[in-house]
Amino acid sequence: MIFLGLASNYTARDIWRHSFAYGTKKHYDALESTLAERYGGDLSCTSLVYSGRTAICLALKSFISSGRIKKGDHVVINGFTCHAVLEAVKAAGLEPVFADLERAANGQILPNYSADTLESLIKNDSKIKAFILQNSFGFPVDIRQFEKVKAKYNLLLLEDLAHCTGRKYPDGREIGTVGDATCLSFGKGKSIDTITGGAVILRDKNLSFPSSFDKTKLKRRECTGDAPRASWYPLFAAIARGLSHVHLEKYWLGLLLKLKWIERSADTKLKLDVSLTHWQAKLALRQVKLLKNTALREFFVVDDREACLKELAKHGFRLKELWYEVPVAPERYYKQAKFPEEKCPNAVFFAAHVVNLPTWYKSPRQKREVAAARKIIKRYELKGATK
Ligand SMILES: Cc1ncc(COP(=O)(O)O)c(C=O)c1O
Repeated sequence: MIFLGLASNYTARDIWRHSFAYGTKKHYDALESTLAERYGGDLSCTSLVYSGRTAICLALKSFISSGRIKKGDHVVINGFTCHAVLEAVKAAGLEPVFADLERAANGQILPNYSADTLESLIKNDSKIKAFILQNSFGFPVDIRQFEKVKAKYNLLLLEDLAHCTGRKYPDGREIGTVGDATCLSFGKGKSIDTITGGAVILRDKNLSFPSSFDKTKLKRRECTGDAPRASWYPLFAAIARGLSHVHLEKYWLGLLLKLKWIERSADTKLKLDVSLTHWQAKLALRQVKLLKNTALREFFVVDDREACLKELAKHGFRLKELWYEVPVAPERYYKQAKFPEEKCPNAVFFAAHVVNLPTWYKSPRQKREVAAARKIIKRYELKGATK
């Protein structure tokens, strides 16, 4: 059986390592300096934070406090994203502007917006002062084209590495080593996964954290609720995967949610005053050292997604937790995102037709299973003008 969610990227050894991890300030400091060095930021402008959205919000607030942009300015974000990104932009006091996904010359819709789209948005909106690139699924953008637009309009670039830590742009540079600020998420299912957490690195030497943020005075995570949730999720999820064989996993997950022992990934909080734990820093540090230039997920555009997922489920492939089922996911937050569907038709189409495959299964048996799932998906795949 293969899964997309439920911490299916955790092996039994990972679950053990995660649940009983013990870290110290030494690990925390080592992760901070490793990230500062890797992404070319000063240590004083690098901080480990509570979540990916906290990192994005802090980076944007730093753009404002450094006088590079002002409250109310507009920030371009991918028209196919997580509500976390939207939340971060708004919490920084800025306005998100959605950019529609790129359509390649062969008609295929790609999971990111293009530099041309960025430029056309700027031409109609003089308040756009910054843009976020997320390289969805680890599928990289043509960064050189974006750099031209950035230079022409004096924009700030935030590289969001939630999906693409360790990946490279087509010109060979590592993602996260190009923009003005680099943000990482260590959330569930991300390139680096410690269930929650994040980091921010201000790369531009003219940027610094707002005076209201003191990275040496961050609070520790609460001992109840928050901390056990981060510790035990991989174990809880492994039990859910086991129960799914008898279709009982939803009762187990429902109970855990009710007890507040777990929370949905999209409900991770934005907390500017709370730090990553030492043990999560230790786990993240290990993962950073093991990073490879591999995509986070494979993606396909299919004709009839419902039928495709149904057939996949019939063969034991649980691939429903795909990214993203709506242009601003998850669906329960979509309405409040006020997504401009008429301006982003490619994103609307893509979100309604995309299917993902996991890339983390390694054993020959698992690889055979993923190949069998891919074969099913290929039968539903859209060819030609739409994909
Ligand atoms: C593209 C992208 N960026 C940032 C985040 C924020 O991550 P976090 O849940 O750690 O706040 C997400 C979360 O799903 C995401 O998909």
